[in-house]
Amino acid sequence: MTDRFETLDGLHAKAWELLGKGVHDASHPCRLPTISTISPDHWPEARTMVLRSADKAAGGLTLHTDLQSTKLASLRVNARIALHVWDAETALQIRLQASVAITSGDPVRALWDKIPDHARQSYGVIPPPGTQIATALDYVKSPDPATFAVLDCRVMQIDLVHLGEDHRRATYSRSDDWAGQWLSP
Ligand SMILES: Cc1cc2nc3c(=O)[nH]c(=O)nc-3n(C[C@H](O)[C@H](O)[C@H](O)COP(=O)(O)O)c2cc1C
Repeated sequence: MTDRFETLDGLHAKAWELLGKGVHDASHPCRLPTISTISPDHWPEARTMVLRSADKAAGGLTLHTDLQSTKLASLRVNARIALHVWDAETALQIRLQASVAITSGDPVRALWDKIPDHARQSYGVIPPPGTQIATALDYVKSPDPATFAVLDCRVMQIDLVHLGEDHRRATYSRSDDWAGQWLSP
């Protein structure tokens, strides 16, 4: 056991270290967090997304998506997400809440230009994602920079649970500069 799990600062740093690993290592559990939104009619919605960046200093994360997807309609009503990851190797559950800014069009064009062709296939489909179709393959992938969106997530709250020999749980908030507070697990 190291102080990475025994101190509030250590646990907080560990969570961001793991999120950073997810960005760079396609096989790491933090690569594919579950991202939840609230639908316009107030239902929770969860889906897998690729974590594109994680910045501890700014408390920021980024995700990429299709502007026409259902989650965008939800984010336009309620620009908030929750993220969940369970990293079995470190026995750490990471949960966080963030507010979201949606960016598309010219400001993200330079980023789009760097995305390889195969990855662009995820952004742009006809008909739009979630449209009813008569048979399973009644759609065409149509990569389109106009439907590419970046979600800039400003983390507001983090909840960490470490299931080591002892169980530890802590909460962190942007409002107190991530000082952290132990919670009963
Ligand atoms: C492994 C995996 C990775 C995915 N990555 C993304 C992603 O980065 N962005 C995204 O918008 N959807 C991604 N998806 C698809 C979403 O999980 C979801 O099916 C799709 O975005 C439609 O969700 P929505 O109807 O809630 O908008 C991924 C799915 C899987 C299985």
